Amino acid sequence: MRPRRANPEPPKPFKFGPHIYLAQTQPGFEPIAWNEIAARYGRGNTAELGRRLVPDRVGMTIFTAPGIAGLKQVRTAEDFFAVVAYRRFPVAPPDPAKRYVPKTPAEHDEDERLGRKTLERVRSASRDARFIEEALAAHVSLVPGSRAGRRLYYRVVARMAGEHPFRRVDLQHAVERGIGERDDHVWHPGGEDADVEFWVTMFPGELLLTMRLSDERLRHREYKVAHLPGSLRPSVAAALGWLSEPADDDIVLDPMCGAGTVLIERAHLGRYAKLIGGDSNPAMLEAARENVGPRYKPIELNSWDATKIALGDASVTKVITNLPWGMRHGSHAENRRLYPYLIEEFRRVMKPGGLIVMLTAETRLMADLMSRGVFRPHKILRVSILGAPAAIYVMRVG
Ligand SMILES: C[S@@+](CC[C@H](N)C(=O)[O-])C[C@H]1O[C@@H](n2cnc3c(N)ncnc32)[C@H](O)[C@@H]1O
Repeated sequence: MRPRRANPEPPKPFKFGPHIYLAQTQPGFEPIAWNEIAARYGRGNTAELGRRLVPDRVGMTIFTAPGIAGLKQVRTAEDFFAVVAYRRFPVAPPDPAKRYVPKTPAEHDEDERLGRKTLERVRSASRDARFIEEALAAHVSLVPGSRAGRRLYYRVVARMAGEHPFRRVDLQHAVERGIGERDDHVWHPGGEDADVEFWVTMFPGELLLTMRLSDERLRHREYKVAHLPGSLRPSVAAALGWLSEPADDDIVLDPMCGAGTVLIERAHLGRYAKLIGGDSNPAMLEAARENVGPRYKPIELNSWDATKIALGDASVTKVITNLPWGMRHGSHAENRRLYPYLIEEFRRVMKPGGLIVMLTAETRLMADLMSRGVFRPHKILRVSILGAPAAIYVMRVG
């Protein structure tokens, strides 16, 4: 018999209505995406309704906005969705003792009955989803080449957080059945190149049915001609840039720039005075040159060891970097020696009042350096990138 696992607290409900959108990120990046979204729309024009996490998979910020115009500029999210149906379900309260108790056969039967009932409600929620036309119009406006005719091919992507008495594929089928029963369009099940994607997420006691408004182009970006292993996801690089509080007079340094993703994303976030990158690996620098191409001027790319940066003291306003994680690049033992030198060197080249933003999976090493007083960040964000736990450290200098 399967052990009983306590569900986490159900997420806080929000009032459902039109113009509700969802931005998806890697887990832990949702507050950053929300911050950028609020700034792009202008404070007061949008409101956050909640955040959600599918552990190790995605983070979400749910918000209401007057339209999708503001989303076209947002770079810290990987995907956008319109929320087309929302339901709450009663759930058993979480067991505070978090005990593992085997289920009795009667409890098992009750679970199955509840599962069937929930899936039935998922089907009717999909059939009756109210904001499909608005979502279709938003999709057409955001994705060049997409269409919204009478006959539409659709695909359903299902996800679950917490324990549920049904399988993910059952959830997917329940939505497929519901959409197939709608009479607003002629809906046909489709494959990878479907016109419309419905993404459904079941949380403990909550169903979120959304229509995807973006496509792969948002995640992968047009400049990524040279994509190398270890190269950062563009939305993650943009989030690091956003945390550096972009300013027009920024002189931005990525001392270990790899394929240049951080610098390029920073360039897209707003004006700057200069971009400077460096790396010790010539192949990486070559990839960065290819990705940068003739754009993003003025930019300087240097071959150097980041513990001996060829810049004068107090010469940059921002350092934004993805440190070696000791997995693909270097080793943990090497990082123990390397990190203190790196941080000291980053400080040296910073103008007073500047910001250092560092991403790494070496969280234990960073905790150790902080306890030894090597650096003191004012912000630490725990994140997960493609399933790997990591953290972002933000530090103001002098
Ligand atoms: C984690 S990767 C950063 C990848 C980069 N953010 C990107 O998106 O492509 C770390 C980079 O640091 C470089 N690196 C490692 N040790 C270095 C050092 N001592 N000095 C300069 N660069 C170094 C590696 O060559 C690699 O390109």
